[in-house]
Amino acid sequence: MPKVLLADPDPKTREHLRDLLADRGFAFDLATDVREALHPIAEGGVDLVLCDLALPGGGGMRLLEAIHELHPDTAVVLLSAFGSVQDAVLAMRHGAADFLGKPFSADQVLVAVDRALEKSALQRENHQLKAALDDRLRLDNVVGTGPRMQAIFKTIKAVADTRTTVLVTGESGTGKTLLARALHSLSTRRNGPFVEVNCGALPESLLESELFGHKKGAFTGATHDKVGKFEAANGGTIFLDEIGTSSPAFQIKLLRVLQDRIVERVGDNRTLAVDVRVVLATNKDLAAAVEEGEFREDLYYRINVVSVEMPPLRERRDDIESLARHFLQRFSDEHGRAVAGFTADALAALAQAPWPGNVRQLENMIERAVVLSRGRRIELEDLPTDLDARGLIPATTAPGTATGSSAGSIADDPVLPLKQALELPEKRIIERALAHCDGNRERTAKLLEINRSTLFSKLRKYGIR
Ligand SMILES: Nc1ncnc2c1ncn2[C@@H]1O[C@H](COP(=O)(O)OP(=O)(O)OP(=O)(O)O)[C@@H](O)[C@H]1O
Ligand SMILES: [Mg+2]
Repeated sequence: MPKVLLADPDPKTREHLRDLLADRGFAFDLATDVREALHPIAEGGVDLVLCDLALPGGGGMRLLEAIHELHPDTAVVLLSAFGSVQDAVLAMRHGAADFLGKPFSADQVLVAVDRALEKSALQRENHQLKAALDDRLRLDNVVGTGPRMQAIFKTIKAVADTRTTVLVTGESGTGKTLLARALHSLSTRRNGPFVEVNCGALPESLLESELFGHKKGAFTGATHDKVGKFEAANGGTIFLDEIGTSSPAFQIKLLRVLQDRIVERVGDNRTLAVDVRVVLATNKDLAAAVEEGEFREDLYYRINVVSVEMPPLRERRDDIESLARHFLQRFSDEHGRAVAGFTADALAALAQAPWPGNVRQLENMIERAVVLSRGRRIELEDLPTDLDARGLIPATTAPGTATGSSAGSIADDPVLPLKQALELPEKRIIERALAHCDGNRERTAKLLEINRSTLFSKLRKYGIR
């Protein structure tokens, strides 16, 4: 039953209105001033307000504003005995559904009420549609409004409930890990475990027992039974990250599990069947790695069943604004700041930046801006000065330092002479690359696209062994 609030100081007017609307099946609330009128409004559920412009306690316009703020879908019709054209214009501009001069005819009231209710119903529907649309524009926590991300969401939704292996490729910071998590939480396995393994970082010697577990006494140091990652992921999803830099030995073992879904603990000859969805990620071009003999072709075909390529941020600029707003909201909540938006030139700068560090770089930049900003909106001055030219300085964009939302942010580094400051990220990049390549210097040099002697001299310079 629609609820109508009659806010008028004159008891006769209230009665008259109530009589006019009696056979419409409305529930009524009555109020004689602004304060009284605000009670039912604050409680919610009022569909329509008929309100005198000269309502005591602040006037009808004041009530209109309050309603607009609290429940923008509630329709308000203003009534006035001395109403001028200006009043009417002002009322409509402030969102009134209609304006009636007193005395009014029965027809006038009925028409105004019907129109107002219709308008508010439409508005409500509109808001609901918008909210539904927003839901379609994201997948779990992954934001992406443009066509390329929408196509990815479609693929992920289509395969979520299957056990199909999914390969996610893309530059660092494009959201591969986030997408893998979204896939898990959308699948029927969502209540099972999500186990993440960084294959590039696993030393060869630990690999087998890490993934498959071992039996006590299987080798020196195996003091108790250990459950491997595949076993731990049973009933859920295992996410094998940085698959492109994994060793040949790892590749063979992985191929075996993918083929048979059976694991064997080291030192134990019993086999165990596992029900695991495998998701893999790499920022390398696997097809090229196959060509170069660095990645097994049979494994490549086995994992390349459904593959998703996360585009770099510079190739999907239509996502930048929605991502920026998403991070703004998150970080202003997290840091307790009341930052509500961006100035037009700040948004324009974000939209044009080159983003070598992709979404992670944007995320770091917005967090920093939220913390630094003193106003209600992020201004151009809150963003790094070289945003237009190069994006961020190496410390935040280097794959070696970009590990979490604010990890490696340049704001954390001490202020040093430039030459010295630039050495910090260089050292970290080299260390990360070395770890990627399991300490293999030849591959490290290749990965960094520098020659071996340059690598050796840098290793000496930074005391990396
Ligand atoms: N579409 C997106 N919507 C919201 N947040 C995103 C999106 N893409 C990435 N992010 C955020 O950006 C950061 C980097 O994303 P993520 O770690 O998934 O990238 P990645 O491709 O796995 O990087 P790497 O190759 O370095 O592992 C994360 O904090 C993530 O939450
Ligand atoms: Mg990742």
